[in-house]
Amino acid sequence: MKRKKLVAGNWKMNMTYDESVSLIEELKQISTNDVDVKIAPSFTNLNNAVSLLSLSEIEVIAQDVYLEERGAFTGEISIEMLKSVGVNSVIIGHSERRKYFNENDFILSKKAKTAIDNSVNIIFCVGEELSEREKGNHFKLIKNQIICGLFSLDTEQIKNVVVAYEPVWAIGTGKTAENYQIQEMHEYIRKLFDDKYGSDISRQIRILYGGSVKPNNAEEIFSLKDVDGGLIGGASLNFSDFNAIVRAANG
Ligand code: 13P
Repeated sequence: MKRKKLVAGNWKMNMTYDESVSLIEELKQISTNDVDVKIAPSFTNLNNAVSLLSLSEIEVIAQDVYLEERGAFTGEISIEMLKSVGVNSVIIGHSERRKYFNENDFILSKKAKTAIDNSVNIIFCVGEELSEREKGNHFKLIKNQIICGLFSLDTEQIKNVVVAYEPVWAIGTGKTAENYQIQEMHEYIRKLFDDKYGSDISRQIRILYGGSVKPNNAEEIFSLKDVDGGLIGGASLNFSDFNAIVRAANG
């Protein structure tokens, strides 16, 4: 089964309102062709991004969401709020959320479940710190993140999940994982889905790579057997880089 490639730009805490408008105007030129293209602006830019891209194939998604559905949680954003501005997908478990905001497996599994229960698709991120890789713990750690975060979802629900493998040591460092490291981890992740949900699901599930994907390495990374696209940080803030990466995904 051929999986459709997906390229998602995670803008992180970048782009003022005006800057986001300028970038989105440029992004309208992108030819998505056979690739799903998504961007994740900050919460303050979501509403406008959705309207600016209403005639485009590019989907606007959120970088995070709160785990409760509503209530007295000052400063948080709910699933319903996202949906009310036309956002139907969200990134969950980014390593920066895990690291700086202490989001643990329990919190992340609750977020994943709340999103999926409310028909919002997720890109669920996993990844190891360099110290864990050096100790040889990386497979065990990723397995744990996936089992705890996602495996309470049932077979129908899991179809709305995309996984992003982002080794923490390759994020924003300019240091990409070696191709064999990427492929072996993606294959390992797919096997976890195979063991839990069977081969139909494991063949369908998309696994993105993230961590210093740039125009000069995207094509090679996207050609790896179990890589179904990328989650792009820095290079998604610049039209020509992001466009080149989408083109690379189109092959
Ligand atoms: P960079 O592409 O800047 O390394 O960031 C990757 C990332 O964290 C995407 O979510």
